Formats: sequence, C-alpha cells, structure tokens
Amino acid sequence: MLFEGFDLVSALATFAACLVSVTLLLAVSQQLWQLRWAATRDKSCKLPIPKGSMGFPLIGETGHWLLQGSGFQSSRREKYGNVFKTHLLGRPLIRVTGAENVRKILMGEHHLVSTEWPRSTRMLLGPNTVANSIGDVHRNKRKVFSKIFSHEALESYLPKIQLVIQDTLRAWSSNPDAINVYQEAQKLTFHMAIRVLLGFSIPEEDLTHLFEVYQQFVENVFSLPVDLPFSGYRRGIQARHTLQKGLEKAIREKLQSTQGKDYADALDILIESSKEHGKEMTMQELKDGTLELIFAAYATTASASTSLIMQLLKHPNVLEKLREELRANGLLHNGCVCEGALRLDTLVGLRYLDCVIKEVMRLFTPISGGYRTVLQTFELDGFQIPKGWSVMYSIRDTHDTAPVFKDVDVFDPERFSQARSEDKDGRFHYLPFGGGVRTCLGKHLAKLFLKVLAVELASTSRFELASRTFPRITLVPVLHPVDGLSVKFFGLDSNQNKILTETEAMLGATV
Ligand code: HEM
Repeated sequence: MLFEGFDLVSALATFAACLVSVTLLLAVSQQLWQLRWAATRDKSCKLPIPKGSMGFPLIGETGHWLLQGSGFQSSRREKYGNVFKTHLLGRPLIRVTGAENVRKILMGEHHLVSTEWPRSTRMLLGPNTVANSIGDVHRNKRKVFSKIFSHEALESYLPKIQLVIQDTLRAWSSNPDAINVYQEAQKLTFHMAIRVLLGFSIPEEDLTHLFEVYQQFVENVFSLPVDLPFSGYRRGIQARHTLQKGLEKAIREKLQSTQGKDYADALDILIESSKEHGKEMTMQELKDGTLELIFAAYATTASASTSLIMQLLKHPNVLEKLREELRANGLLHNGCVCEGALRLDTLVGLRYLDCVIKEVMRLFTPISGGYRTVLQTFELDGFQIPKGWSVMYSIRDTHDTAPVFKDVDVFDPERFSQARSEDKDGRFHYLPFGGGVRTCLGKHLAKLFLKVLAVELASTSRFELASRTFPRITLVPVLHPVDGLSVKFFGLDSNQNKILTETEAMLGATV
C-alpha cells in the first residue's frame, strides 16, 4: 500500500514537473517570438512599432482569430488602440481602424503600400487575377475588366438576374420546409455568376458538383499556408485544380458555340475588351479571370443577401416601407414585378431601397478589410508601420467606430436619406467596397443584384423566421450566420396574401 501511494505521488510529481516545463517552454518561446518580430522594426525611424501580441510561435493568433470572430478585432482594438500588431495566417500583420488611418493606406497604394493577400488566398486565386496584380499590370487589368460592369453591360444582365432571382424565390416558396437562407443564397449567387455573368450552359448535375467543389475552395481561401495531407490549404489546392479543369471545359464549349445567346455576357465582353486593349487573353488568364469573378461575386453577395433577408425579417416596418415605395412607383402589381418593368433607371429612382441596401452594407459588411504589404516605412497614429510588414485596413471596425453615424449599432436605413446623409462627412467612414485605386470592380453589379432581390422579396414573397431566435454571426471567410438562417417562405396571391400550402389550407391555418 505504501509503495502504491508512493507511485501515485511520484506520478503526480512527474506530471506536475512536465506541466511546469511545458508552460515555461511555451512562455520562453512566446517571448522569443515577440522579440523576433520586435527586431524587425525600422531602426532608422524613432517611432515605436504598434502595441499588440504576436501570439504563439508560427501559428500566431490565428486560432484566436478563428474562434473569436468579430470579438477578435474589437477586443484588441479596445486594448491596444486603432493600430495594433498581431500574427495571422502565417505572417505578421498590423490591423488598422479609423477613417483617417484607412485613408492613408488606400490612397498610398503603389507608393506606401501594395496589395498582398495572405499567401493561401494568393496561391489559391492565382497570379493572373486583378486582386493579386500590381502597378501597370493592375491598371491594365482593371481597364479590361471594367467594361464588364459598364452601365450598358449591367442593363443587359438585369433581366437575366431578375429571372434567376424569381425562379429561386418561387422554388423557396413552394418548398414545404424552411430554407437555410445562407446556403441557398450561396447557390443563387453561384448560379448568377456561372449562368448570367459567364454565360456557361453547364448541366444541372455538373453545376451541383462544381458548387460543392467551390465551397471547399472558398472555405480554405483563408487558411494556414501549410501544404500537408488533410490540411485546409491542401484541400483548397485540390479544389482549385478541379475547378480549373471544369472552367476550361466550360470556356472551350462556350467559345465554340455562339448559338442561343441573346445578350453579351461578361466573358464575351472580357474577351472583346482584352482584344481592344491589344492583348488577347490566354486560356490560363481566362481561367484565373473567371475563377476570380466567381469568387468575388459569390461569397460576398451571398453574405449580403442573407443579411438583407435577416434585416427585413427583424424590421417588418422597413419591409412595409419598401412595399410602399414600390407601390408608389407603380411596380407592385398583382404580386409580381413583371419582366421588363425593372430597368436600371427605375432602380436608381427607388431612394428608400438604396438606403436599405446601404445600411445592410454598413452594419453587415461582408468583408472585414483588405490586405497590403508595406513598401516604405510610414507613420500611423504615432507608430511606425515598418517596411516589409503586412497591414490590413479594417472596413467593419471602421464602420462600427465611425463618429459620423448616430446610434451606430442600430439598423436605420433613413440615416442615408437625403435629409440626413450621415455618410456625407468624410468618405472613408463608409467603405463597404473599399476605396482608392482598388475599389471593388463589381460594386454596381453587387448593388444591382441586392436591389433586385429586395424588390422581388418585397413584392412576391412573405417570409417568417423558422427558428426561435436569430442565429449568431461569424466572420470567416465572409460575414454569415452560424448554421445559416432558417426561414419559411410563402408565395403571394394577387392581393398580396400568403398562398397556403394544401396542408395549411386543410388545417385552416390563419395567415
Ligand atoms: C456585396 C458584394 C461585394 C462586396 C462587399 C465587395 C467588396 C470588395 C472590397 C472591399 C474590395 C477591395 C479589397 C481591397 O481593398 O483589397 C473588392 C475588390 C474587388 N471586387 Fe468586390 N465586393 C463585392 C462584390 C463583387 C462582385 C459581384 C464582383 C465581380 C463580379 C467583385 C469584384 C471585385 C474585384 C475584381 C476586386 C479587386 C479590385 C482590385 O484589386 O483592383 N466584387 N470588393
């Protein structure tokens, strides 16, 4: 018995000694890790580098970032201020909040800073993309791509977008079960990108497969760039290969067949535009270009669409006001906005609709911010931003802390009305689409899509939350509700009343 007791004591002592050693080792390695990065400060500049923690060796604060979501940025900003350092996704990073600081970064593109997305994003999207290119290559690519989003091009996509949205809402309404809105919004924006934007006529089955691969791709776009079996990065690379194969097949088929087309889609315009600018695109450039367009359009717009539906559910008065505006503009007839009734000019004239979309994009901006690498040391908020480091300008946190917005946490579309125009003072307080020479190329298309979705929702559907409470929000890779958003959709009859399902009618359900 005595020996047994002794064994237990010695085992506990060994365990405690191991624990202390591991803790000490971790603490020492963490200190060395902090010092390693402190040593990279620009010694020719007297200013200190920003405060903050570099986390644990190699992984930095990536785990905290993934787990804490929106709390990560706000807790560190509260502790260290508007400019703080951290270590995310395998690299040191300075995160920056506040209109003045953000302005300096966005206006400093090409001389103070240059775009540099995390390694995983760069590798998975590919080198030929607009977002990854710099200098003259970037300028030329933007010229070529901007034709896709001209007024004329958007006008020609509009009826197709409306049709895709109408078909989707009809399918949602005829489903007896609740819809997972985020999942379905992803499918909707994916279809929009593939069928309307790129004009691919991929069979439904292949499209479903492509969509699954695409989800795997997007999930791993922001991952630790460690190419090991079963790592997120490896899964992302595999998804990229499969997608590129599928895209090459679709592009080849599309280039061979010109039949059945009644409008010029973005791929047609892109090919033409590149010829006009004297540089025909190679197959690899076309594949990277289309992959980038799908990536840029799909996740961001699905996020904003879900947020829009969530806010309309939370604020029935806003939905009613939207309906009033449609009615006043002669757009709400017999529960449908008929084909051809919607034109770009009509949408521009709907002022309240514009305010609603702007407010969704302010409070629920899909992208946290943009990444840059520092070309020369500069000063921000009394700190040095050393050459060679990465910076991320924060969109969400800048919105959340902008002094120009009254009751900043409240969903209040009227803040963008002509009478209040809270965004008029200082353009960098409100930047859901970024700013400067890298402003989002597709912002007018994104807004067009969201407006059509809102119009169709207001005029053809009724919808109710199908869960007891609204879901929590997470931010990676874009803002979205954890486990989606469960909503039951109903069609409307010509008097704007809910169309009952057979079972509801039999049970005499009240509307
Ligand atoms: C609600 C939807 C969208 C949001 C919130 C959004 C947001 C953004 C932001 C913040 C940037 C700037 C990133 C930076 O500063 O580095 C950006 C860039 C970009 N966006 Fe969007 N975007 C959306 C939809 C779209 C769509 C639909 C397309 C095209 C189909 C698109 C294409 C692009 C491209 C090509 C860039 C890179 C521009 C450059 O580096 O010059 N985006 N987007």
